[in-house]
Amino acid sequence: MHVIETAGLTKRYPRVTALDALDLAVGDGITGLVGANGAGKSTLIKVLLGLVPATHGTARVLGHDVATDGAAVRSLVGYMPEHDCLPPDVSASDLVVHMGQMSGLPYAAARERAADVLRHVGLAEERYRPIGGYSTGMKQRAKLAQALVHDPRLVLLDEPTNGLDPAARDDMLALVRRIGTDFGIAVLVSSHLLGELERVSDHVVVLDGGRLLRSSATTDFLHATGSLLVEVQGPAGSDRRLGQALVDAGLPARPAEGHLVEVPVAGDDAARDAVRDRIRDTVVDLGLGLVRLQERHHRIEDVFRDGGAGRVDQSA
Ligand SMILES: Nc1ncnc2c1ncn2[C@@H]1O[C@H](COP(=O)(O)OP(=O)(O)OP(=O)(O)O)[C@@H](O)[C@H]1O
Ligand SMILES: [Mg+2]
Repeated sequence: MHVIETAGLTKRYPRVTALDALDLAVGDGITGLVGANGAGKSTLIKVLLGLVPATHGTARVLGHDVATDGAAVRSLVGYMPEHDCLPPDVSASDLVVHMGQMSGLPYAAARERAADVLRHVGLAEERYRPIGGYSTGMKQRAKLAQALVHDPRLVLLDEPTNGLDPAARDDMLALVRRIGTDFGIAVLVSSHLLGELERVSDHVVVLDGGRLLRSSATTDFLHATGSLLVEVQGPAGSDRRLGQALVDAGLPARPAEGHLVEVPVAGDDAARDAVRDRIRDTVVDLGLGLVRLQERHHRIEDVFRDGGAGRVDQSA
């Protein structure tokens, strides 16, 4: 069963179509939801929670129809909202205990779970202080803790790295990864920073203007766009000779920085191996020494910028 399934899901506001006939299937594990500002990420998450009604189409979360069964969805799903929504005069401990009780936990159990999740997100020491005095990083952690307190099957995290510096961003991404791997909770995590999701996601969904641009495994994403980098040893100009010879052999070789030759490759492992063999043979034929032949993994960001994400690959 898919964790999230949508069919023709559409959300229209008076001036804009926030979601446009979205057909989506999300499985277990960690799924990155990528898109620029206004792409429809937050709208999708709110529709999935049953907080915002769709204009057309259907969405099911953990088997429940979000239009008719929103309460059941929200009892099984944790939600970390995008914007700062925490009461400043309450401690993280009180907030998370309260959210646990709202989800149906008895007081004692809510206290115990709150202490656990706050420790897990790294707010053990500060949890009795009012949230108003927290840094942005601490607030994001408190928001994450309240999403986890009722032991959900799925969490929807809306831009958890928003406003964080690089170190805090890495910590947050590591936490997100652990929610998926250590606790087996399915995760849908959104970001407009395409590069950061490739590190934590098993699967990536790209939205653009409310439409699905692409949905595929992160490894396919990287593989489909990787290049091979070649460095050779020989007289001056050897890299140019190699580049020309590769082009003559039908490979799309181009110069790269530092006298390297870059050969973009698409396709599966067998196709890549064949290209590697041809590069090796060409180097030998030219009487050059092969110093290195390695993969250059493009980041999802590059894919997006190059327009590669324009292909819709529904291998969900
Ligand atoms: N309540 C609303 N009323 C009218 N338009 C809305 C409303 N909520 C969202 N929109 C519009 O729908 C589109 C999608 O917005 P959404 O917030 O889902 O994007 P997003 O991908 O989350 O963007 P961001 O990265 O800025 O958070 C935008 O054009 C936005 O202006
Ligand atoms: Mg948003």
